Amino acid sequence: MPVNRLRRLRRNSAIRDWVSETVLRPKDLILPYFVIDGKGVDRPIKSLPEVSHLSIDKLLKEIAKVEKRGIRSILLFGVPKKKDKIGSEAYNKDGIVQRATKAIKKEFEDLVVITDVCLCSYTSHGHCGIIKGQGTPYHKGTEQASDKRQGYIIDNDKTLKILAKIALSHAEAGADLVAPSAMMDGQVMSIREGLDKNGFKDIGIMAYAAKYASNFYGPFREALDSGPHFGDRKTYQMDFRNSDQALREIGHDIEEGADIVMVKPALSYLDIIYRAKEKFNVPVAAYNVSGEYAMVKAYSQGQGIEKELALEILTSIKRAGADFIITYWAKEAAGWLN
Ligand code: PBG
Repeated sequence: MPVNRLRRLRRNSAIRDWVSETVLRPKDLILPYFVIDGKGVDRPIKSLPEVSHLSIDKLLKEIAKVEKRGIRSILLFGVPKKKDKIGSEAYNKDGIVQRATKAIKKEFEDLVVITDVCLCSYTSHGHCGIIKGQGTPYHKGTEQASDKRQGYIIDNDKTLKILAKIALSHAEAGADLVAPSAMMDGQVMSIREGLDKNGFKDIGIMAYAAKYASNFYGPFREALDSGPHFGDRKTYQMDFRNSDQALREIGHDIEEGADIVMVKPALSYLDIIYRAKEKFNVPVAAYNVSGEYAMVKAYSQGQGIEKELALEILTSIKRAGADFIITYWAKEAAGWLN
């Protein structure tokens, strides 16, 4: 009888470690933060257990802690003071993300600061782009044929100019990479051109290339009050029935100048991560989104199983092909991994 020797040897945990194929390290994790105006603010976000809205002073203290655990990159989202139709606060040089980036870079020179470039938390209507028309009230559960029928359309090309402006303001503040997440057609090219023209050739783009219209963004939208007030995001985010399309989207973003491409969400999209990594020889990031995190928090409550679940999930995302992972577990996971 042939013997599966390795299987027998695996009874020894040192040997199991030798032959393990996937290694998850704190430096593979990108930690998202929600930064808000004020002083001394550390306001827990109801929908996202153990995640807070932080003012800049508190954020700096947090970063000092997580850096010690081996976290080397963060992703910034801003909670703006005001919202309007075109999301103008997003490119305000004195906006919350711009000020936070400056403050962070002053204290933590080597920390990689990535900034989200989108409009949804800055627009009064909650869409990721500029809209034409007023929109009809949103009826939950009704599938709409098109955004036009709902009394509005997304003005893709007008949005591109604003996204480039936002990215430029982040670069001026000192961001290392900008992460466009609006899923507007041509956004990477427009941002790249804007950065290059203004002397920011060294600033990178981490493109949310394959971003799905997912039901797993709920807790995040609560955190940023960024859900659409009418319609949905199905006309610009991807249909979860598709995977070939994801590869085409990723291909376009690479051609337009993306340095890193992202697949989002992660857990229901491991096949997309795998195909992206196989097909394109570029760094692939995965976003382990708010709903995926909150779901496990709810399930594991009080049972002492969260660590095992989270590490299994994060490792599987890396096993699928992601080079790094954006996750709300980053701080805790870095502690577990040390
Ligand atoms: C903004 C944006 C979203 C997320 C990241 N950037 C939400 C959305 O598209 O509505 C979701 C992240 C998460 O759920 O953790 N475009």
